Amino acid sequence: MVYSDSKTNKIAASANAIAYSSDHNKNYIEGAPHVKHSSLLDMYMRLAKDCYNEALRYSSPPKVLDLGAGDGSATIPFLEMGAEVTAVDIAEDQLKLLQRKSSPYGNKLHVRCGDALEVMKSMQHTQQHFNIITANSFLHHIPDYLGFIRFAANILGPHGQFLSFQDPLRYDSLGKLTYAFSTGTYFCWRILQGDILAGMKRRLRRNKGFYLEDSIEDNVEYHVVRNGVDQDAIQTLFNGMGFNCRIIRYFSTQSSGWQRVGSVLGVKNSFGVIAKKV
Ligand SMILES: C[S@@+](CC[C@H](N)C(=O)[O-])C[C@H]1O[C@@H](n2cnc3c(N)ncnc32)[C@H](O)[C@@H]1O
Repeated sequence: MVYSDSKTNKIAASANAIAYSSDHNKNYIEGAPHVKHSSLLDMYMRLAKDCYNEALRYSSPPKVLDLGAGDGSATIPFLEMGAEVTAVDIAEDQLKLLQRKSSPYGNKLHVRCGDALEVMKSMQHTQQHFNIITANSFLHHIPDYLGFIRFAANILGPHGQFLSFQDPLRYDSLGKLTYAFSTGTYFCWRILQGDILAGMKRRLRRNKGFYLEDSIEDNVEYHVVRNGVDQDAIQTLFNGMGFNCRIIRYFSTQSSGWQRVGSVLGVKNSFGVIAKKV
């Protein structure tokens, strides 16, 4: 189920603004498989390059909008390829880091701090359009990600492409074995991260269906602590809007050893999306 009321979206956005401020965000890379494992980085780079080359047919340099840019794991590859990138994030500290890392690309980078939906609304108002919208490890942070995607599609120009990566496949669409493997590999990593008792209490509470508005942990990775992200609903939505949409399924987990095992076994628990306006 996708939550669509704007109050829920605002609560999640505020939780993210706090969680990704510099004091709270020390362990981001440690917990971000797509940033720490080279196999996933390579996979993302191939998808990004395909999108970039396709966009070059219509615009040079391509204009890219990076939503939930963080400190730039998606922004910097596009800057390196030669794109002009607008990076949006609700956490000012993340954008400052991104600006520092992107200093070689000078005026090719623009940043906007704020809730991505509100920023997109203002872009629509001023009739800004992009060749590529990328949302890396981001959709699961947005309670109403389908409404969000619908909005993003409006500010893509002709032949525009939407690229997202690193969201959890909807949990109840995974087989039991896959779900057990995925959860088990997560626990192997999680047990080494501290805060175990409080983490277990939160999990037990959520298993009973109780979520708290004032809990940062319940609202930051909104759909990670619920039922994952609905890949089929996203594909149906894009197809219905006249896009050609491909879902790319793969395995991701935090620990490097289990990442290798899961990939070799062909387990799939995560996905990316490439959708092209046709
Ligand atoms: C998991 S990080 C991903 C960062 C980067 N895209 C990456 O893949 O490494 C999620 C980012 O989304 C930002 N974020 C979460 N909710 C947001 C919202 N409603 N509007 C804008 N940014 C948001 C967070 O501040 C954080 O930097």
